[in-house]
Amino acid sequence: MKKILIATDKPFALTAKNLISQVIENAGYEALYLEKYTSQEEFHVAVNSVDALIVRSDIVDASIFENAPNLKIVVRAGAGYDNIDLDCATKHHVCVMNTPGQNSNAVGELVFGLLIYSMRNYFNGAVGKELKDRTLGIHAFGNVGKCVARIAKGFGMKVYGYDALPGKDKEMACFGVEPLDSIEELYNLCEIVSLHLPATELTKQSINANLLNRMPHDAILINTARQEIIDEQDLLSVMRMRNDFVFLADTKPVIDEQLKKEFPSRYFATLKKMGAQTEEANANAGVAAATQIVSFFETGDEHFRVNL
Ligand code: 3PG
Repeated sequence: MKKILIATDKPFALTAKNLISQVIENAGYEALYLEKYTSQEEFHVAVNSVDALIVRSDIVDASIFENAPNLKIVVRAGAGYDNIDLDCATKHHVCVMNTPGQNSNAVGELVFGLLIYSMRNYFNGAVGKELKDRTLGIHAFGNVGKCVARIAKGFGMKVYGYDALPGKDKEMACFGVEPLDSIEELYNLCEIVSLHLPATELTKQSINANLLNRMPHDAILINTARQEIIDEQDLLSVMRMRNDFVFLADTKPVIDEQLKKEFPSRYFATLKKMGAQTEEANANAGVAAATQIVSFFETGDEHFRVNL
């Protein structure tokens, strides 16, 4: 009987777990759960006899592959797979997949939750600001970017987009988003910029002072993507120079304490990354992951493979 380990430092909702287990058990496999583990050693022990692994942002590095002799497939129940050592997986003949799009709506909704919370002064009763008619820049137009666009149009915002990948202009136009030719234009025009870039060698620390200083008065930068994409020293100096600049994050910056201390009214970060923390997103991503594993073993389907 194949064993599937669901290793999640941040556990899935119970409703999602029941659905995931159902998919696994219906295939005649066994579902094992490791949750809120406190060390990689616990993970090493849990992964030792399993054939497949489902993770969220959990670190899957060389030590995991070395301790999992039967492992054939790892599925990241989510979009970003920068937490998985892909080269090492390939070396160990392990297939790595993600579940693109399954938790995008949850992240998209959180963007507006954070924006309204901040623009209404953390609900302290002081006079705030509205989203309607404001300019929103969507930096990278993937699945989350599209959800953000859809919701922003409902708020009556003017929405612009920039994506370095070719062919995105047409997709933006379908969502009523005005595509811009350069990244500089996006930051020049938009009072609010929402980041939806993956963390890659190209994007790490790419959001720098050159871009942030371009933003119009009363700027808000919101990062629900990855911590690494922002040059934090640049962000700090921009926030020191501009008392109209707000930073909101669902991916806690390394300089969290410093930002909290220096800019209590212009900085907010969630306690734990919670963009994908809804029952619906957990169920969508978790069930997709389990289904992909079953198809991989039963039919050799590698559709969502991300490593070589
Ligand atoms: C993703 O890449 O899908 C999101 O960042 C969600 O991450 P999480 O599963 O750790 O909440």
